[in-house]
Amino acid sequence: MKVLGIETSCDECAAAVVENGLVLSNVVSTQIPFHAKYQGVVPEIASRMHIQWIYGVADRALKDGGLKSQDVEGVAVTAHPGLLGSLLVGLHFAKAFAWARDIPYIGVDHLLAHLYAARLRLKETEDTTAYPEYPFLGLLVSGGHSAICRVDDFDRVSVLGTTIDDAVGEAFDKVAKFYGFGYPGGVAIDTLAQTGDSGAFKFPMPNLYKKGKDGKDHSYDFSYSGLKTAVVHQLEQFRVKKPEAGSGAPPPETPASLAPSGKEAADIAASFQKTAIDILLRGLFRAADDTGITTVVAGGGVAANSYLRARLAEEKGLRTIFPPLELCGDNGAMVAGIGERYLLRGDRSALSETASARVKAFRKHYP
Ligand code: KG4
Ligand code: ZN
Repeated sequence: MKVLGIETSCDECAAAVVENGLVLSNVVSTQIPFHAKYQGVVPEIASRMHIQWIYGVADRALKDGGLKSQDVEGVAVTAHPGLLGSLLVGLHFAKAFAWARDIPYIGVDHLLAHLYAARLRLKETEDTTAYPEYPFLGLLVSGGHSAICRVDDFDRVSVLGTTIDDAVGEAFDKVAKFYGFGYPGGVAIDTLAQTGDSGAFKFPMPNLYKKGKDGKDHSYDFSYSGLKTAVVHQLEQFRVKKPEAGSGAPPPETPASLAPSGKEAADIAASFQKTAIDILLRGLFRAADDTGITTVVAGGGVAANSYLRARLAEEKGLRTIFPPLELCGDNGAMVAGIGERYLLRGDRSALSETASARVKAFRKHYP
């Protein structure tokens, strides 16, 4: 079934066509340059840009896939979670497309779609026998969400552990800000860390217990706010000092001009990255031990992180599967891919369906 997938939950305006799990086209138009100067995504700007771009992006996706609009047999769209105004643009585009062509449409969950990305094929010749069997552990690591889940089917996920404060991508972005790298900064930290010594600085791991002070079991949970604060304090020490008032020197214009550089900067980035990934893997390994599930499927922007990939590759006893790099961040192919599964099963969304900024399904239920 040829499914057009639409993704506008945040700052990527994306559309793709998938048929039988094969990606026929995948167009991602990023708004990052338009948000970068604000050091984060501005919801109002994001929605307006999606309105301007979605038609052209979807048109490109059809053309790249060698299709006309009448060839499309179904439409899938991210309905939650995300920025409400942005989601609504994609949702209404998808509804209008489906209504005009009288084809089925389905609203899907962005996080389930991230966990589905590893199942997609970029080439017809790709080996599908390497696909993970259910159940597997899902390592969902993005800018807005982080979770370790048990995945029993493409639409059945239970959250075993989650962050109690920042998402892992958010931690990368916040630290990157102190380097003056702009938003989002995960890739810049990843690149800088490759030239540093990850053992040079020791940063704290959060202490989350089976029986937390709140009485909840936090065995697989994690936290990033303490790490972020420790790294920022360390960076402060290597910051270029502001010139004394009246010294005659011009004040530095941007935070980037104050940012540390050289060996310390690279060592701090590498040490931060190692700790950030250690925090994630501690929960993941505990979950693998306790559930006996040894297959891990990653998804989300941080699944592109080279250190995370290298660490999991060397982990004996675990089989880890990552989506191709172009399917880690937000994209329409993952939406079309999971959408095809729902549509083939006969699931349909109502044309009255609305978007929602949050989802209950990805909330952890503490026993
Ligand atoms: O999944 P995604 O594209 O958007 C959300 O759904 O949030 O994830 C974006 C996040 C950002 O925080 C970005 O800095 C991070 O993924 N990211 C990375 C890398 N590439 C993207 N973090 C660490 N290392 C990377 N190579
Ligand atoms: Zn995402």
